[in-house]
Amino acid sequence: MTSLRRAKISVIGAGNVGATAAHLCALKELGDVVLVDIAEGIPQGKALDMYESTPVEAASHSVIGTNSYEPTKDSDVVIITAGIPRKPGMSRDDLLKTNAGIVKSVTEQVAKFSPNSILIIVSNPLDAMCLVAKKASNFPAHRVMGMAGVLDTARYRTFLAMEIGCSPDDIHALLLGGHGDTMVPLTRYTTVQGVPVADFVAADKLAKIVQRAKDGGIEIVNFLKTGSAYYAPAASAVEMAEAIIKDQKKIRPVCSYLQGEYGFKDVYLGVPVLLGAKGIEKIIEIKLNDEEKAMLQKSKEAVDSLIKIL
Ligand code: APR
Repeated sequence: MTSLRRAKISVIGAGNVGATAAHLCALKELGDVVLVDIAEGIPQGKALDMYESTPVEAASHSVIGTNSYEPTKDSDVVIITAGIPRKPGMSRDDLLKTNAGIVKSVTEQVAKFSPNSILIIVSNPLDAMCLVAKKASNFPAHRVMGMAGVLDTARYRTFLAMEIGCSPDDIHALLLGGHGDTMVPLTRYTTVQGVPVADFVAADKLAKIVQRAKDGGIEIVNFLKTGSAYYAPAASAVEMAEAIIKDQKKIRPVCSYLQGEYGFKDVYLGVPVLLGAKGIEKIIEIKLNDEEKAMLQKSKEAVDSLIKIL
């Protein structure tokens, strides 16, 4: 990626998450956007509609919709959202086989046309889909990552802000582990503008907020009934894309391929990383206490069980 040309972002899957992410990329002027979907007319119509919003928003980049992968050629960042979402009564894991097939086929196409791109996977079950994408692309680990931790943390920060009555932006927090019930909250690292959260929220209340964050996805599914959350997931994926495109060196929880870090090998799990132009530029190993280590182990086993099914 050079600073002399516009960045190019492709978004695969023009459904709720993909279209919202593409629109955010255009509004934030992150680069030219290509929206791809298997459904004929949908990416073309949505992309044209988004492009037509750019004069109003004073944004200067193009948004193109397509059913083929040629227009994605030489993308810098590719956000993969293709797949089926959850309905009430379904766990993320119920999506496993269908989405594995979809993620494999779209990643092969993406890798063919953009061999130097950085992939941000959103399709669920996230941790397993990252491994599918890594294998299908044959990209190095630092260029294939998953969006989960930013979203889980955003939910946790929102619920804390609602409780405390402060801006969500004032809440600083990290969560580790897989996406979902086995995520590992690091409440002792949560602060309200640097002040430990325990000074603001009682332990029992904090435990309830952590649980609500873990169940954050299903809370939305139960409201929507016909699909799953997309505004916060899209915003989270776009924050990661922005950190990469602008080489921001942001530390965020990202689903990353571990090669010995935290004592795990050859598995995707959410850990804090430094995000910059090269993708995952560094995995940050923080000291965990025994309870957190046990939770991370449980989270890893949950991811392992899905990988075994695949
Ligand atoms: N190639 C390209 N696009 C595809 C393919 C494929 N092989 N298969 C499905 N799609 C497209 C669908 O046509 C649809 O437009 O993926 C899109 C998915 O959009 P939605 O059904 O609206 O689902 P969404 O809410 O966007 O969620 C997508 O992200 O958060 C995760 O769990 C969620 O796995 C799900 C994914």
